[in-house]
Amino acid sequence: MELYFPFCFFLVLAICLVESRQFRYDYKFNQDIQGWIKLHQVPSTWEDARLRCHLEGANLASPQNSKFATVLKNALKNTHAERIGIFTGIHATFSNGDFQSIEGIPLTKMPLQWMPYEPDNENNEENCIVMHSNGTIADVNCNEVFPYVCYRKKSKNEVLTECGTVDRDYHLDPRTGSCYKFHFIARNWTRAFMTCAAEGAYLAIINNDAEAEILKELFAKYPQPARFSSSKNAAFVGFHDWGERNVWTTIHGETIENAGFNTFEANQPNANGGGQSCGGFFRSGKLDDSWCHYRLAFICEKSVDSLLDDNE
Ligand SMILES: *[C@@H]1O[C@H](CO)[C@@H](O)[C@H](O)[C@H]1NC(C)=O
Ligand SMILES: *[C@@H]1O[C@H](CO)[C@@H](O)[C@H](O)[C@H]1NC(C)=O
Repeated sequence: MELYFPFCFFLVLAICLVESRQFRYDYKFNQDIQGWIKLHQVPSTWEDARLRCHLEGANLASPQNSKFATVLKNALKNTHAERIGIFTGIHATFSNGDFQSIEGIPLTKMPLQWMPYEPDNENNEENCIVMHSNGTIADVNCNEVFPYVCYRKKSKNEVLTECGTVDRDYHLDPRTGSCYKFHFIARNWTRAFMTCAAEGAYLAIINNDAEAEILKELFAKYPQPARFSSSKNAAFVGFHDWGERNVWTTIHGETIENAGFNTFEANQPNANGGGQSCGGFFRSGKLDDSWCHYRLAFICEKSVDSLLDDNE
């Protein structure tokens, strides 16, 4: 950043601003490693860290060379992560002891120093690597939780779409001014929620009949059942009973009546003995109370102005 900005001021500032946001508003460009990084301060297991980076369109970052190690160390400065360290992308989850970065760089090719008495592979259960703020590493259990950094390598031809993302599966619909993406790989409701969130979006919230129609049209473009799906005719959307049977509230806290669309399919909600707490949407364009553990297709919605939420 330090190197980058003075350079920018000699050019047209506007171009540089676009450039530095070219991936996502919540990532920062780093000249030294030619890519964007984001520190996730909320500690998570290694699996979840990997998945979240992946869903954000990035990778769980590793100190793959000394430049990377320096950038990661700097990213931790003055945060909680500085005291506890971060998960790196270096793991041996496929085969005990075969440590490599997510990108496939073997640990032996990375210029790293172990902490004292490490690696110890305690109980033969330590397949993930953390890095401390002084740059030393240790093997830990992947189910422990640590903060982490995601990294997106800069590539050519990366353009933010009108939806404020590089993900070309989001399409703007002028009828609502929102962008939508239909996810064809079925997930359960919580994973669907996480996936939308990681994409800078949210599980779709239906605010009027026109928006229900948009989702219906979108669904109709995918006549086949979603892969590994529990039901061909339902998709997850963004409402939930939040543990209160039959009090349907959007994931942004409004009752679905107030949000603007509360038309359930005939004989729905049927709350089959409870447990159908999660927002579903039928091909018919009407709502369903779905099993949360079902795997269904799902629809994410993204507001265009999330492009303007400037965290820098
Ligand atoms: C680096 O930090 C770790 C964890 O705080 C500590 O155990 C280790 O001694 C430090 N190593 C050096 C070289 O300062
Ligand atoms: C959803 O799937 C994830 C990953 O498989 C699992 O950890 C989680 O418990 C599931 N949630 C529900 C409500 O089934």
